[in-house]
Amino acid sequence: EADILSGLPLKGKKVLITAGPTYEAIDPVRFIGNHSSGKMGFEIAKAAANKGAEVVLISGPTHQTVTHSLISVIPVVSAQEMYDAVHQYFNITDIAICAAAVADYRPKKVASQKIKKQESTLTIELEKTKDILASLGAIKKQQFLVGFALETNNELENAKEKLKRKNLDLIVLNSLNDKGAGFKKDTNKVTFIDSDDVITNHQLKSKTDVAKDLINKIIEQINA
Ligand code: CTP
Ligand code: CA
Repeated sequence: EADILSGLPLKGKKVLITAGPTYEAIDPVRFIGNHSSGKMGFEIAKAAANKGAEVVLISGPTHQTVTHSLISVIPVVSAQEMYDAVHQYFNITDIAICAAAVADYRPKKVASQKIKKQESTLTIELEKTKDILASLGAIKKQQFLVGFALETNNELENAKEKLKRKNLDLIVLNSLNDKGAGFKKDTNKVTFIDSDDVITNHQLKSKTDVAKDLINKIIEQINA
C-alpha cells in the first residue's frame, strides 16, 4: 500500500520515546508507582521502527519486551533517571514522543533504612518531579515534540492548554471516559491535536493501531 510507494518514510530519522511508569523510592523496599503497562510506548517504538526510524526507547519498569534491530531499550526506574537519559539523547533526536506515565511527585526524603511500623498514621512528604516533556519543549530546536494528555474532564481544553504550555507540535489526548481505554488495556481511544489546532478523533482501537495512526500523523506533519 502507501508504504510501498513512499519507501520507508522515517529512514535515517532518530526517534526518542519514553514509556511505562516511574517508581519513586520511599525506602529501600518501597516505592510510589502507577499502573502504566508501557504498552503504548512500546507499540509506538515498533511502529516508528517499521517505518525505518532508529528508535531509542527509554522505559520505566515494565514487562514489555521488544526485539528489533532499529530499537534500543534503555531501562530506567525513577523520573529523575528518565529525565537524565532523555536529555542525553535529545540533541541528536529528530522526533521525541513522551508516552511515559511519569510520577508527578516523589518522596522528599528517601529513608536509608526500611521504615518500621510505628504510629497508627504515617505521613510522607512529597515534592514535584521535573516535567520531562516540558523541559524538552523549553529547549527544542528542530525537534518535533509529541506529548500525551490523560484527562477525565474538560478533555479538549486541558489537552490544548498542555500543548501550548509545553511547546508541543502534537498532543495525543487519551480518553479515560471510554471503558476500553487506558492503563492495562490493549485498546485506547485517542484524539490528536496539532499546533494548528487541527483535531482528529479516532475510534477505540488496539494500541498497535493507535501507534500506527500516530506515526502516520507525525510523518504527515513533518512533511507538510
Ligand atoms: N510528563 C513528563 N514528565 C512529568 C510529567 C508528565 O514528561 N514529570 C509528560 C507525559 O509523558 C505526557 C505529558 O507530560 O506526555 C502529560 O502528562 P499528564 O500526566 O497528562 O500531564 P501533567 O502535565 O503531568 O499534568 P496533570 O497530571 O496535572 O494533568
Ligand atoms: Ca501527571
